[in-house]
Amino acid sequence: MNSEQDKIIIFDTTLRDGEQSPGASMNEAEKLRIATQLEKLGVNVIEAGFPAASEGDFKAVQLVAKNLKHAKVAALARASQADIARAWEAVKNAAFPRIHTFIATSDIHLKYKLKMSREEVLENAIKAVKYAASLCDDVEFSAEDGSRSDRDFLCKVFEAAIDAGAKTVNLPDTVGYAVPEEFSELVSYVIKNTPNMHKAILSVHCHNDLGLATANTLAAIKAGARQAEVTINGIGERAGNTSLEEVVMSLNTRPNFFSHTTSIDTTRIYPTSRLVSMITGILVQPNRAIVGANAFAHEAGIHQDGVLKNPMTYEIMKPETIGLSKNNMVLGKHSGRHALYTHIAGMGYNLSDEELNLVFEKFKHLADRKKSILDEDVEALINEGVLRSADVFRLEYLNVTSGTSVFPSATVHIKINNRLVKGAVEGNGPIDAVYKVISELTSTKSQLLRFSISALTEGTDAQGEVTVRLSEDGIVALGKGADPDIITASALAYINGLNRLEYLKEHPVVRPETL
Ligand code: KIV
Ligand code: ZN
Repeated sequence: MNSEQDKIIIFDTTLRDGEQSPGASMNEAEKLRIATQLEKLGVNVIEAGFPAASEGDFKAVQLVAKNLKHAKVAALARASQADIARAWEAVKNAAFPRIHTFIATSDIHLKYKLKMSREEVLENAIKAVKYAASLCDDVEFSAEDGSRSDRDFLCKVFEAAIDAGAKTVNLPDTVGYAVPEEFSELVSYVIKNTPNMHKAILSVHCHNDLGLATANTLAAIKAGARQAEVTINGIGERAGNTSLEEVVMSLNTRPNFFSHTTSIDTTRIYPTSRLVSMITGILVQPNRAIVGANAFAHEAGIHQDGVLKNPMTYEIMKPETIGLSKNNMVLGKHSGRHALYTHIAGMGYNLSDEELNLVFEKFKHLADRKKSILDEDVEALINEGVLRSADVFRLEYLNVTSGTSVFPSATVHIKINNRLVKGAVEGNGPIDAVYKVISELTSTKSQLLRFSISALTEGTDAQGEVTVRLSEDGIVALGKGADPDIITASALAYINGLNRLEYLKEHPVVRPETL
């Protein structure tokens, strides 16, 4: 094997399958920010969206395609001429465009969803790939629900797709049903029984319904797959997709077992994980592998002692390898502009001068109220000052009364598209009162599905981070807010959620039935 054959192609679908996580919809600027970070991370192929799904998706793919210089930019399309033409229109200006077309191949999908015979599916797949190949040099074909398809039919479809011009054929475990040994065997079978497989790259795309997505992907790589489809933090449809960080760090940590590398700069994994979490509002569970807050925390005394003596006793990876700096440098009110900017760059963010000025202003304000500013605080400031989408609603003033012997009440002033509105209400508690006023002032019809609060760092002066999940007419939006005052953080999160909801109402995403 030469070194190129050793390399696993990392195909990231955070912006497409990842965006199918409930509430994770992103606007164009947010998608571009993530795509730019993915490119720096060293991702080989970035699936930027599904242009036929909505005008917003189309524009976002177009924007990403125009701006990336090294990564391939893929657009998803069903096996129809209209979808493929739309996908091509969106990616054609990319430095390295790819059309990714798919059709289901399992009998269950054929009978109940597509209502097509195997012959019809085969014919559609060939037509779709031929058309895509007439537009674009780089075509990927996916056999949706491949893991539950008849093996010989799957091989027949792959053979035809490769003959029609597909350079990559993808075997998805769409419903997360496969188990590693069986999936590995399926991959070996497909490689052996698809006569022209040597002319294409075999890819896998696993879902995590049984918590086996990464295990299945790694088993497939062992069996000969050379492209892994992944998302950051494993976000995606239902239980999500295989996570990039797990696959990359498994290959990286166990080189003798896997003997495959990737082009990922692992030191950018942690900042990328944080960025995706901040933009989508989807929190990373603390015990999550690689990127969870506890992934490198040693609680038991015997472990702490061992790690102090030699980290190799209990640490199989170094925190620095994933970009988690051991020295979470403390900034404070005397830290200057330069110290903050250097620190932000060290955290992996690339902000413009204007954005840095905005963050610095917020930093000074926070430093007046909080003695030590840690990385988590700086990230919240970046989120607040830079990553937010254009706001319809903006919190201008908040005053709350609460205590053991008063009725909790809140006075709130909000700017709605620059028009100031004011209100005051009593509630069961201070947050209830604030949410009631905001709800009245904004006339929102949304429902609050979830409210959660946690401390960003240690100490009683820590910023509280609030996450809310709102729903209106089937549209779900997440909102986040952070502040040392948890009532203010709660108000900011609610208003952020309402702004995201406004955006989604104006840019509806109609998920086609077949996805
Ligand atoms: O899970 C799946 O099958 C997909 C395909 C569109 C690749 O996301
Ligand atoms: Zn998928």
